[in-house]
Amino acid sequence: MFSKKFEYNTSENKISRLLTEKRNSGVKLYDLTESNPTKAGFEYEAVKILESVSGYGSLEYNPDPKGIPAARKAVKEYYESAGLKVSEENIFLTSSTSEAYSFVFKLLTDSFDEILIPSPGYPLFSFIAEMESVTVKSYTLKYTDENGFGIDFDSIKRQLTPKTKAIIVVNPNNPTGNFLHKEDLTGLISLCKANNIALICDEVFLDFNINTVGNNILSVVQADGALTFTLSGISKICALPQMKLSWIVINGPENIRDAAKSRLEIISDTYLSVGTPVQIGLSTLLEGRHHIQRQITERIISNYEFLKSEFEKDKNISVLKTEGGWYSVLKINIKINEEKLAYDLLDKHNVYIHPGYFFDFEDEGYAVVSLLTKKDELKKGIHEIKNCLLKLL
Ligand SMILES: Cc1ncc(COP(=O)(O)O)c(C=O)c1O
Repeated sequence: MFSKKFEYNTSENKISRLLTEKRNSGVKLYDLTESNPTKAGFEYEAVKILESVSGYGSLEYNPDPKGIPAARKAVKEYYESAGLKVSEENIFLTSSTSEAYSFVFKLLTDSFDEILIPSPGYPLFSFIAEMESVTVKSYTLKYTDENGFGIDFDSIKRQLTPKTKAIIVVNPNNPTGNFLHKEDLTGLISLCKANNIALICDEVFLDFNINTVGNNILSVVQADGALTFTLSGISKICALPQMKLSWIVINGPENIRDAAKSRLEIISDTYLSVGTPVQIGLSTLLEGRHHIQRQITERIISNYEFLKSEFEKDKNISVLKTEGGWYSVLKINIKINEEKLAYDLLDKHNVYIHPGYFFDFEDEGYAVVSLLTKKDELKKGIHEIKNCLLKLL
């Protein structure tokens, strides 16, 4: 009866089953994966946020496939404040960044065409691709102690086939935290141009800089050497995932960009998925981002510094270099099955972490923690992780 797309195992895995049991039992958990900003103890400008979506305009419906002009203007101003020029005509609103991906996949691919995704990376892309009948192929982000994670262009070249339609980059990547650098962008644009494929750049974490002193943060919105789609939204920028508003900025050579826009308009018009209240409130919500971004940036930097100092002299774990975003990658230097470690930590120490395989690390021995975790919780959780590792030695 059902599509073959869902023939993978839909039941809970061992760790998520144990997590549900622990949560139901009411035991105190140290959840080092918390990445829902509305649950991470930040102070929101509640009245301003609520008032922004509750005006009389919210009672009217004026559908526009790209999104209402005032909201697109607010997105344009968001980029302008960073010195980036974007035309409102090249902006399409969507209800989430995940939806933005699915629109771009619909636009670019036929069944079984291929999209290249970063590995390690966030598992979202393969799910969306599967639902759009697209095949994903991974390219590698290589780690060096000197530079942290970075794009391995040879691995991209090895994965390109006549069926490849786009390369996805995440700027900065989740969970590895590497921003796109100037030479990366130049290389990607020339690869896309030469192979007549598109560049999809996810910039939801662009404003969260941990460690890029002396480096200008680069957005893809102005890259016009090949067809580019820059995806972002207020789920991360304003830490408001519940509001459901994201966007796509299209750029590229004029003829191909315009052909993409007219097709994307058909897709957007079919769904008209973005609610009116959030579009009306967008300008105020984006203006308010600094209030929450200050708190988040303070938290992620302070948590990252804490992790580095905790493990500086500990041979069992290295804290890998990051530049931005909400996550930190820990490399476990003792021979251990990372799934078993994650299970034991939860079972015996009530600490929840993501094992590396969740993010498609190529080899064993990684764990990912969310830097949004409340500071006390992270400290207690890390203390438990150290105890657990000592017992394993
Ligand atoms: C890199 C990346 N892109 C997109 C998303 C999804 O964003 P949205 O909630 O706007 O769909 C996430 C969610 O965590 C993410 O990590």
